[in-house]
Amino acid sequence: MILNNFLKKALKEKWSLGHFNVASFEQIKAIILAAKELNSPLMLGVSEGEREYLGLKQIVALIKSFREETGLPLFLNADHSKSVESAKKAIDAGFDSVHIDLSKLSFEENIKGTKEVVKYAKVKCQTSDVKCQISVEGELGYLRGESRIQKEIIEIKEEDLTKPEKALEFVEKTGIDRFAPVVGNIHGISANEPKLDIERIKALRKILPENVALVLHGGSGIPDEQIKKAIEAGISNIHINTEIRVVYAETLRRVLAENPEETTPYKILPQTIEAMKEKVAEKIKLFGSEDKI
Ligand code: G3H
Ligand code: ZN
Repeated sequence: MILNNFLKKALKEKWSLGHFNVASFEQIKAIILAAKELNSPLMLGVSEGEREYLGLKQIVALIKSFREETGLPLFLNADHSKSVESAKKAIDAGFDSVHIDLSKLSFEENIKGTKEVVKYAKVKCQTSDVKCQISVEGELGYLRGESRIQKEIIEIKEEDLTKPEKALEFVEKTGIDRFAPVVGNIHGISANEPKLDIERIKALRKILPENVALVLHGGSGIPDEQIKKAIEAGISNIHINTEIRVVYAETLRRVLAENPEETTPYKILPQTIEAMKEKVAEKIKLFGSEDKI
């Protein structure tokens, strides 16, 4: 079960592999239950904050145990690794994938660090006892926002957007497997509706080599119609975090308010799992990854 092969298949068949962020056991359970029910491959992602909370070793062991038990293609990604060191730590811990996000650095520094991570991942697999292929994602452009509900309007400036020629140079010089551009997307849900630049996605898809997957970050809050057009234009991997967090928090607040005397976690939390599972299932169907194993 190789992540890059699923991404190639997704691009060819015009569907997208979901990437869902996790920070709790309930989220992990909900996502895997949805994958099982819909027979879908997917990625589970942990940002630096999320993996610090869960524990690097612990999240690797947990996903491995679910993979063994379910037989599902579940891939663990070190999402938004902000330094070469943190990406290397995730590779050493046994992640299937790393996202090295040096997009806040200069173009040259971004290339240098991303290239170093690509090389590290390759060497790790060549020298490892177990056969592996670690997928590496790089990012270019200024992606605004945070994975939460933001009350303010977030304006995207022309200079934030990823330029196709620069993207090609970045991809060629780094050797990455997945490329995350800024194409009208933001992290989290803002007061204004996002407007994806579908023509830019098409231009990126046209100029980049076929074996490099295009990743859409900030999938929460984007209307379904735009998501469908983005997949049609060549997006084969979509990240969702905020919408799951919102469902979790809203359900938990409601369950606690309705059952003020209840103190047993396994009686309180299953309703959050069920609600998050439904949200993930909705996204799997929207992305078209159902029955793609
Ligand atoms: O890497 C994580 C994602 O890009 C999540 O974005 O919070 O808007 O769903 P989101
Ligand atoms: Zn992201």
